[in-house]
Amino acid sequence: MDLHLREKTAIITGSARGIGAAIAKALAEEGVNVVITDINSEAAAEYAKDLVEQGHNAISVGSDISDPESVDLLQKATLEAFGGVDILVNNAGIVRDRGIIKMSVEDWDAVLSTNLKGSWLCSKAVLPSMAQRGWGRIVNISSRAHWGNPGQTNYSSAKAGVIGLTRSLAMEQGRRNITVNAVAPGFILTDGIKSLDHIEHIKAGALEKNTVPRLGEPEDIANIVTFLVSDRAGYINGELVHVSGGRYSG
Ligand SMILES: NC(=O)c1ccc[n+]([C@@H]2O[C@H](COP(=O)([O-])OP(=O)(O)OC[C@H]3O[C@@H](n4cnc5c(N)ncnc54)[C@H](O)[C@@H]3O)[C@@H](O)[C@H]2O)c1
Repeated sequence: MDLHLREKTAIITGSARGIGAAIAKALAEEGVNVVITDINSEAAAEYAKDLVEQGHNAISVGSDISDPESVDLLQKATLEAFGGVDILVNNAGIVRDRGIIKMSVEDWDAVLSTNLKGSWLCSKAVLPSMAQRGWGRIVNISSRAHWGNPGQTNYSSAKAGVIGLTRSLAMEQGRRNITVNAVAPGFILTDGIKSLDHIEHIKAGALEKNTVPRLGEPEDIANIVTFLVSDRAGYINGELVHVSGGRYSG
């Protein structure tokens, strides 16, 4: 199936590793110019270099998506390199898991600022270019945790907020031929998740509760994002797609 993505330009936040890196690679393989952007600017530069060496069009821009000035610079660097933005994948995210009593205000603010405010800021920054082109795709990475998870009052609030952002923006922008959808991954084996203290417990829970008997891979998310940002998905707007191995609760 030709996804008609050649020569589109995509910003993928948090794409130096993990799910974001897999999304960037999948889009690059479809002929998309990819902007690898991450708070870890060295890792972003290295990954963009790898993609270029593989024959893809990629640049890297260091950014902190929770900072409006940094997002403005990201948008400007993209326009300078590729002339506009067609696709935004709001992927960058962090966790600071703790029960509410032990959770600090800083833990709350950091998680909300990156996962929710960052997605809002990046969307706001790229929409004028999409409107000018009369075409745009935004995909927000939420999480199965939007249903709630003990120890994640900050993260699940942010990821539920991402769904509200998705639906409101979809309603605002649909008539401009700009669609906005969200993906809610279940357990996906990435470096970020591997570094968590309670990783073995989380893994066991996922294997027990998934109806598909395996753990998720970053490519499982990249596949659906690649479809959602294509022309083929033009009649899908404001939706939330769960990619969780068929695990819906608990
Ligand atoms: N891995 C999972 O099981 C899982 C499940 C559900 C949802 N998600 C979501 O998927 C997304 C990617 O997860 P992952 O597992 O690949 O994470 P990861 O930690 O491996 O990668 C996240 C990337 O985002 C970058 N980043 C963090 N803060 C940033 C900021 N302020 N500005 C720019 N970049 C920043 C990090 O440097 C990192 O490279 C996140 O939104 C996460 O919440 C992951």
